[in-house]
Amino acid sequence: MNDQGSISNLLNEDRHFAPDPAFTVQAVAQPGIYEEAQADRLAFWAKQAKELHWHKPFNHVLDWNDAPFARWFYDGQLNVAFNCLDRHVIEGRGDRVAIHFEGEPGDTRSYTYSQLTSEVKKAANVLASLGIGQGDRVAIYLPMIPEAAIAMLAVARLGAVHSVVFGGFSAEALHTRIEDAEAKLVITADGGFRRGAASALKPAVDEALAGGKCPSVTNVLVVQRTGQETAWNPELDLWWHDEMAKASQEHEAQGFDAENPLFILYTSGTTGKPKGILHTSGGYLTQVAYTHKNVFDLHADTDVYWCTADVGWITGHSYVVYGPLANGATQVIYEGTPDSPHAGRWWEIIEKYGVSIFYTAPTAIRSFMKQGREIPDKFNLKSLRVLGSVGEPINPEAWMWYRDVIGGGKCPIVDTWWQTETGAIMISPLPGLTTLTPGSAQLALPGINMAVVNDDGRELENGHGGYLVITEPWPSMLRGIWRNPDRYKEGYWSRFPSRYFAGDGAKLDHEGNLWVLGRVDDVLNVSGHRLSTAEIESALVSHEWVAEAAVVGATDELTGQSPVAFVILRTDQIEAAGDDKNINTVLRNWVAKEIGPIAKPRQIMVVPELPKTRSGKIMRRLLRDVAEQREVGDTTTLADVGVMSLITSKLATGASD
Ligand code: WTA
Repeated sequence: MNDQGSISNLLNEDRHFAPDPAFTVQAVAQPGIYEEAQADRLAFWAKQAKELHWHKPFNHVLDWNDAPFARWFYDGQLNVAFNCLDRHVIEGRGDRVAIHFEGEPGDTRSYTYSQLTSEVKKAANVLASLGIGQGDRVAIYLPMIPEAAIAMLAVARLGAVHSVVFGGFSAEALHTRIEDAEAKLVITADGGFRRGAASALKPAVDEALAGGKCPSVTNVLVVQRTGQETAWNPELDLWWHDEMAKASQEHEAQGFDAENPLFILYTSGTTGKPKGILHTSGGYLTQVAYTHKNVFDLHADTDVYWCTADVGWITGHSYVVYGPLANGATQVIYEGTPDSPHAGRWWEIIEKYGVSIFYTAPTAIRSFMKQGREIPDKFNLKSLRVLGSVGEPINPEAWMWYRDVIGGGKCPIVDTWWQTETGAIMISPLPGLTTLTPGSAQLALPGINMAVVNDDGRELENGHGGYLVITEPWPSMLRGIWRNPDRYKEGYWSRFPSRYFAGDGAKLDHEGNLWVLGRVDDVLNVSGHRLSTAEIESALVSHEWVAEAAVVGATDELTGQSPVAFVILRTDQIEAAGDDKNINTVLRNWVAKEIGPIAKPRQIMVVPELPKTRSGKIMRRLLRDVAEQREVGDTTTLADVGVMSLITSKLATGASD
């Protein structure tokens, strides 16, 4: 897993940026916070939880008797939506802007906390009128528009469970997610705006439900965003605006148990089938609110916050919807792509709204870096005071560029490590307290206990690399995999007993800072989005031409990693498949249709054989060498040592685009 060369390079990083004392004085996180959490971890979490409004206060912090199934604050009751909305209005913050929405075509809308509360109350009444109640699952398949947050909060308000499916996923991916969760309702839109054009969404829902494939679904609620022609099924479909117009603005939020499920979010694991990560209410909201406030140094009355993630990913759940709204923040939500209608659109938005806290992904930073600093330099970015990064390791060059060009050399950067499963940030610097080292996510947050271990599970000392584990339960931890408790235990808690294995490799530098090195399993990280090699392989072999497929993640300058596929064609299909160019086009589009455009392999190489061990396991390491055009490594454990030369000679002579 670990490339020893790059580890020692990282260990040599000697740039450090001490906090500015003027920042420290005003910072949310004050010295002593690590010691306080360490002295009594559960008391520390109880204190954070008490920042929320509880319909019924809790007496117990953690029940870990049935480990690895945790219950946090379990005898308390709360309403997640009430905490994100009504509470702010009741406490006099109703006129504060919650959301500044910027549509891609340039249309804008702002919602104050009062207005957002009314919208969510109406939406909750609409959902209740459609038979949605506690525990029911609602699939949400929307573009990045305020209705996405409104729909999620309305579901939460009723004690129901949302499953948000990223709008870039295909009809097939949507279908499997609706089916697995047995969703009763789907909330979608006619379409959204992307790259200057209306892009349809509703047809994918129609295809996912066609022919009674998802019998659990009783209605489809459709937001009108683009106004494009939309096919209509009068038996299921309802316009969101028609139902909202009829709905009452009165809705009293009821308290639900802290462990009431809040959402399922599907993510890729090491098998072909995405897993439904289950999160519950009290612990999740506690940790997202605490991290959002301390990691981003949120001063809710003056800051303008912007996280560029889509609500279809965990970052959008925790740091667009629940964290910022629980803290009463003012935030920007942007619908479109960074380069539409011009390459400076993001920086224009920062200038326009006076964004002070900005949270994005290394892929985006690297692509801006490639375009050159002239573009951001045209805008006034002086309002920025904290910058965040998430989704993949940020290389020190990109970190420095982010700091200098976007942050004007003065903003602390928080490189935040976490996962869909952890629910909230686990490792990050604290601005104002931490001396920053470019490229390192640095320390586990106060209240979080982590370690780096070797193959035998022994904790490693500074200066060594191994596997990243979490050693104590945490409030926003996943509560399991939807309807699959065994996969939860096996997938996360069996490799190192009593410890959660994150699937990432990491090292500790000489000062004890953590450097996350990326996945050690068969999970790819493409532009900060998780995809499993098995998922792409199973999409490929479902095509009639393909007999066998192996997918590896090749290093990509821009996206971190990108999938490269090796396929063996069925003998009777070789003629039909045509030349390599045709095979590439057809199979890449096939994967886009089966999973979504993000899963499209960068390249598909047709090979006569795949390298396998004697037990039949594909040796991906060797394929990765080929994909990255390196010299092929040790082949002695191959069942047939001639395979690699067969592959490399085929690739040297064959035309492959
Ligand atoms: C990777 C995204 C290095 C990691 C929030 C993890 C990171 C996976 C970082 C989770 C970071 C996320 N530095 N790697 N700051 N943040 N990762 O579930 O491999 O989409 O396991 O959650 O992204 O991806 P997920």
